[in-house]
Amino acid sequence: MSGSSDPTASAGPRIAVYPGSFDPLHGGHLDIMRRCKPLFDRVVVGVLENEEKRPLFSVDERVAMISEVVGEDPIFTVQSFSGLLVDFVESLGARAIIRGLRAVSDFEYEFQMALMNRRLDPGIETVFLTPREEYTFVSSRLVKEVFRLGGDLSGLVPVPVLRRLEERLRPETN
Ligand code: PNS
Repeated sequence: MSGSSDPTASAGPRIAVYPGSFDPLHGGHLDIMRRCKPLFDRVVVGVLENEEKRPLFSVDERVAMISEVVGEDPIFTVQSFSGLLVDFVESLGARAIIRGLRAVSDFEYEFQMALMNRRLDPGIETVFLTPREEYTFVSSRLVKEVFRLGGDLSGLVPVPVLRRLEERLRPETN
């Protein structure tokens, strides 16, 4: 469908929001971000301000780490948000929420969120992208656990994240 009669047509830039906790950012997140590049004109990485969940890194630290990794690329901006995701998306003039789907086990939660967000704002679509197979088992929770126990994370998290993990969670040596 094309032309002005198409209610889904939009003349403005295609802006997407990639939301998450990013506590911390890992290679799977970065792979999803790379996949957004040919699809959107701008991608806002939305970092949830979820201090009640007691994240390892403060929201400012998470924003700083992600900015250090993708900040040179003009397509990406990194911002924190609180409150409803759809309100944040709306405030940016975006129409799409990006979520990564690693495995079937992600699906139920993601499906519920997508439908709730659609109910809250029918004008916003959730777009699911899948990372490369080698990242399908990587999660922020496991990254923290493996690092804490002294396991090797090379290739799974970007260097600025590894550096900050070293500052925060030195592996036990005895
Ligand atoms: O990386 P995560 O923790 O899986 O990301 C979850 C996130 C940030 C996308 C989700 O918790 C969220 O959107 N929170 C904002 C509050 C909100 O809008 N809740 C209703 C979503 S259905």
